[in-house]
Amino acid sequence: MIARTSYRSAGRQVMRPIESAAPYRTIAVEKLTPTIGAEIGNVDLSQPLSAEQFDEVSRALAENLVIFFRDQNLTAEQHIAFGRRFGELHLHPAAPHVEGLPELMIIRADANSKRANGEDWHTDVSCDEEPPMGSILRITDCPAEGGDTLFASMYAAYDALSERMKSYLDGLRAVHDGENVYRGAYENFGIKDKASYPRAEHPVVRTHPVTGRKALYVNRIFTSRIAGLPREESDAVLAFLLAHCESPLWQCRFRWRANSMAFWDNRCAQHRAMWDYWPLTRAGFRVTVKGEKPV
Ligand code: SIN
Repeated sequence: MIARTSYRSAGRQVMRPIESAAPYRTIAVEKLTPTIGAEIGNVDLSQPLSAEQFDEVSRALAENLVIFFRDQNLTAEQHIAFGRRFGELHLHPAAPHVEGLPELMIIRADANSKRANGEDWHTDVSCDEEPPMGSILRITDCPAEGGDTLFASMYAAYDALSERMKSYLDGLRAVHDGENVYRGAYENFGIKDKASYPRAEHPVVRTHPVTGRKALYVNRIFTSRIAGLPREESDAVLAFLLAHCESPLWQCRFRWRANSMAFWDNRCAQHRAMWDYWPLTRAGFRVTVKGEKPV
């Protein structure tokens, strides 16, 4: 478990992870903010990780929720192999993938795009019964400015709630629906719609299986309502929670360069990709690691 202190910001109590007691031996870890995000150096992800490197990368992810790597020139196979080191890979229910490599999702927006991946706050595929644990994105082409990705800590969002709100949310479940998100979304890639898309119910507050910390688990793209509440109450509570999750108090923002990689933990972090570079092109590939049923 990671030790924490807290501080007040904008009238809210924000929990701050303390630097892990154990120093890193095989990788360099430079935090972007006290709450979320770290840049990792001194590791070449095209090569198989040693057991110690794997443990330290896993610990850096647990402590920072999203970790970033620069100058990683990986083949498709090496990217997939890096993902597999962390678990079985997830196949996206709708998005396009590289021909012959269903694990390698294509991320691309250009002058002809009507939408871009992840344009609003979300955790990946939370409409699945067992949503992905983590996602590993490598950007190969990006504009000189723009196309950043923002990440937010759902631990910090939960910790900052009042005790009354925490008690109210305890035991509530929410519906996460892929239908409105995915239907027609990838027409420009020539993808035909399926008869139906995933839909699942998950706890509004989940406990992370590695850190034991509680995290808010509702997001703007997939969460359609809180189960068992009257519609007006569900809409109002969800509106409050979504705005709260998206507070800049617990965010970091990553500026991409070609061959940068990000590895985020979908169980405790949300993200949003900025599409502020049209008509320029931003492209890359994502490998997604399977997760467990949220509890
Ligand atoms: C995504 O949601 O996987 C896309 C993130 C990004 O393109 O930065």
